[in-house]
Amino acid sequence: MRKYLPFGKPDFGDREIEAVTRVLRSGWVGMGPETIAFEEDLARSVGVPHAIAVNSCTSALLISLRLAGVGPGHEVVCPSLTWCSTANVALYLGAKPVFCDVDPETLCLTPETVARVLTPRTRAVMAVHFGGFAADVGELRRALPDHVAIVEDAAHAFGSRYPDGRLVGASGNLCCFSFYANKVLSTGEGGAVTLVDAEAAEQIRSLRQHGLAVDAWKRFTHPGVLLDANLTQLGYKANYTDLQAAIGRVQLSRQEEFRRTRLEAAEIYRDGLRGLPVTLQRQVTDPGHSRHLFIVILDDEARPTRDELLVALRRRNIGATIHYEPLHLMPLYEGDGAPVSLPHTERVAANILTLPIGASVSADDARDVVAAMQAILG
Ligand SMILES: Cc1ncc(COP(=O)(O)O)c(C=O)c1O
Repeated sequence: MRKYLPFGKPDFGDREIEAVTRVLRSGWVGMGPETIAFEEDLARSVGVPHAIAVNSCTSALLISLRLAGVGPGHEVVCPSLTWCSTANVALYLGAKPVFCDVDPETLCLTPETVARVLTPRTRAVMAVHFGGFAADVGELRRALPDHVAIVEDAAHAFGSRYPDGRLVGASGNLCCFSFYANKVLSTGEGGAVTLVDAEAAEQIRSLRQHGLAVDAWKRFTHPGVLLDANLTQLGYKANYTDLQAAIGRVQLSRQEEFRRTRLEAAEIYRDGLRGLPVTLQRQVTDPGHSRHLFIVILDDEARPTRDELLVALRRRNIGATIHYEPLHLMPLYEGDGAPVSLPHTERVAANILTLPIGASVSADDARDVVAAMQAILG
């Protein structure tokens, strides 16, 4: 293969460039009217009353846990098979992340894997929609005591659907999206929380900007509003910007196009990898999966090994990668109390790899990847 193919490649075209230029020329690049419009577009597209844009999914998760009342002495259950943000935000608030196992086919947590680690100190569960497979949060809600909040980590799941057919984000939980560079909807960096509750939405608006009751755009458009009277609580510097929102609005309008491209690659992979010693994450070619990641799990006895396969693919300029090294085995978390054993996570993580998929990964790219996988593993 010629040029290096990264595992997730966004598509920015003339419309994104024009939108950014328009905002630059407007003279207001901070958080303002474009962000408000993006939030309205997002809320409409997810089918939920409120969407609040922030500077990252990590901030969205942190603010959501804070809203759920998480603090010192509490435990927050999250899968170990996730990006470090999911657990780190619990630490930021003085709480303890407690790792749970995942279902080996969906790679998401389940009521059963959560129940095994639930204690009277559990205050929240982070439901990660792994790779774009939507965890069944309805089933999880029914299994959890009322005082345990569910925060959805939907960093991978913009456009995914729950088993009941609704779009991820519309469950009524605090649901956190990422608009990081390689995501399904990309604005370079960024994130959002979607939710139903109006009061909680106001709280998030305040917490994303230091804890101020009135943000910069409102102060600018209502000169009578003074800054110093408005700091009501300790918040974060986590606001979005109109430059990103301009990109986001265009990216949102192109989601159908992106979904088709991703589905095409996923189907080429599904068909082309048949007969090789691999299993695919469940539902990766179904409509409910955002296909943010195309996850392949190598059979235990397959040769070459997963790491050798990754190196061989990289040598062919294919940016296959690993999602994820389990968090409970990371130095930051490993020494924390009794050793944790998560058999499915550990088995899957030893054999997992991500093949390139994205708005700019073409059918020809996917066929090249299949040919490389066949040559190396066949
Ligand atoms: C599962 C998961 N959660 C959270 C995040 C954090 O997203 P962000 O980079 O927007 O903070 C990521 C980032 O890739 C992720 O994969």
